[in-house]
Amino acid sequence: MSKCLIVANLKSYKNENEAKNWLEGFKKITELKLDLTQKEIIICPSFTQLFSFFSFFSTNNIKVKLGGQNVSPFDEGAYTGEVNAKQIKDFAEYVLIGHSERRQNFNESEDMLNKKVSIAIQYGLNPIFLIQNQDDLVPQGVQVMAYEPVAAIGTGTADTPENADAVAAMIKTKNNTLVLYGGSVTSENVKSFTAKTNIDGVIVGGASLEAEEFIKIIQNA
Ligand code: PGA
Repeated sequence: MSKCLIVANLKSYKNENEAKNWLEGFKKITELKLDLTQKEIIICPSFTQLFSFFSFFSTNNIKVKLGGQNVSPFDEGAYTGEVNAKQIKDFAEYVLIGHSERRQNFNESEDMLNKKVSIAIQYGLNPIFLIQNQDDLVPQGVQVMAYEPVAAIGTGTADTPENADAVAAMIKTKNNTLVLYGGSVTSENVKSFTAKTNIDGVIVGGASLEAEEFIKIIQNA
């Protein structure tokens, strides 16, 4: 059985001070002596916080992985304002690609998503490719996907575990990848998703912004 992946997507929240407070709160996880052998925790802060998170986790010997929330479709070069895969790889092992907030607000096309996946893989980053319905196209090389129905994101109304499991099953059959569920996951409902056969983990947005709640999610998953 593969590990249960628990991803925190901190989105475009937290300045340096707020991020420090989050990290101090999250450090309490070490006192709980949780058995994390079957759980892989992946935290995706803003780019400006990747280094502080990386240093904090190394210094405190906290065994979590980091992910970028986005990646440039280009290699390093004259692309003002972009953060590229080579730079992200210094700190992170994963990268979110295809989130609906990026598809909608930044017009990310399938062609662009393909380029992002390809350059991420080239630099050894593991893309977590997000789709909003089972028919969305999936670039080659993706090994971890996430199903996030738009109506469930940030609304407090999660998909039903039964439907999420059925969609995850279809995605798996078609693409042979791990499949995570995302959309209004909380410490209360997380187990109903992770208990499903076809769901390999969760992506948590809003409920990960408080470190204590995110720890509860990890405990309950
Ligand atoms: P949410 O966000 O948990 O706030 O619904 C999930 C996501 O956007 O990845």
